[in-house]
Amino acid sequence: MERVRKPKRSFSLKGEDSNLSTLSFFSTLTINADTPEFSFRLDLKRSESFPAHRFSCKGYWFHSDERYTAFPVPKDSAHLQLQLGESLGAGRTGTAYSAQVSAPLPQLSRPVPSELVVKFAKLNHCRNLAREAWIYNYLDRIPQSSGTIIPRCYGFFTTTLTELPSAKRPYDLPWSSVDGEHAKRDDDLWDDVEVEESLDEIPSELITKERSAWNSWVPDSKNPLVAVLILEKGGPMYNEIDDEDPLVKKDIKQIIRDLSLCGVAHGDFRMSNLVRSPTTTEVCPHHKCVHKWNIIDFNRAWVLDLGVECIPDAIVAVDPGYRQPGFYGWNPSK
Ligand SMILES: Nc1ncnc2c1ncn2[C@@H]1O[C@H](COP(=O)(O)OP(=O)(O)O)[C@@H](O)[C@H]1O
Ligand SMILES: [Mg+2]
Repeated sequence: MERVRKPKRSFSLKGEDSNLSTLSFFSTLTINADTPEFSFRLDLKRSESFPAHRFSCKGYWFHSDERYTAFPVPKDSAHLQLQLGESLGAGRTGTAYSAQVSAPLPQLSRPVPSELVVKFAKLNHCRNLAREAWIYNYLDRIPQSSGTIIPRCYGFFTTTLTELPSAKRPYDLPWSSVDGEHAKRDDDLWDDVEVEESLDEIPSELITKERSAWNSWVPDSKNPLVAVLILEKGGPMYNEIDDEDPLVKKDIKQIIRDLSLCGVAHGDFRMSNLVRSPTTTEVCPHHKCVHKWNIIDFNRAWVLDLGVECIPDAIVAVDPGYRQPGFYGWNPSK
């Protein structure tokens, strides 16, 4: 009799545990900034993230799937107030800042660190950040990946800059630079492709990639959007010295393996997208250790459904190619 290969990990897209998921904690956000460089107050609301297509290893193509839909956005959760701090780094999509929690929080099921990260999308990369937000949400529903191999996420928030009276010149704001070649649209994603099947069989209330408002989003220079992701804060990013250390390499290989087993292909796996893990990182159930490194920056990620695919094929498909030439890519420390 033919043996059926079963995935080793349990998969659940049922929904966050509303008591435990950090994604259910906050529905509104205020960011205050008061530095010699810039001063503003932004009031933002939770926003829907941008679902991915499901990639099938069998047909080697993307599909619509009713499990790959926008996750519910919490409406009546707590308010988070942050004071913006120093810039931690910038990449193609955005700029990440440290931020202090500046107003008392209600009793939540998990302590919120006093320092978090705000990742601002450049004004033309809000769609890419909305995808990153969906990946954090997707991974949060797979037991024990958030908080072990990736930072915990506290949500995706947006507002429009027209609501910011002090921003007379919005494009001068620190995160808002626009890439010249893509000023009028965001970067394409791997799954920006036509899918063959019709959406008729997917209940109309489920927001698939095609049905998402982000699918056709383009930046509006007259009414610019501010999009931010709130994350736990990790430490410094991976550098050439780390790359000489066999123990570091072992840790990175393990976290890549864990990410691949979640069915997530990073799509942009480079030194600058690995940071030392947050102090709140918990023991990895697979490797029985606290990983010293975390993977970040999922705005070019795509996913496949391991629940119905063969794991070895899937691993090959999502393998991010650790230490292949692209890994060194652009290194901001140089
Ligand atoms: N959660 C985090 N903890 C610590 N540093 C971070 C975090 N998120 C981002 N950074 C820093 O900010 C840089 C830019 O963030 P990243 O998410 O890679 O943006 P981009 O998509 O523009 O490349 C990273 O290379 C890293 O140095
Ligand atoms: Mg990056």
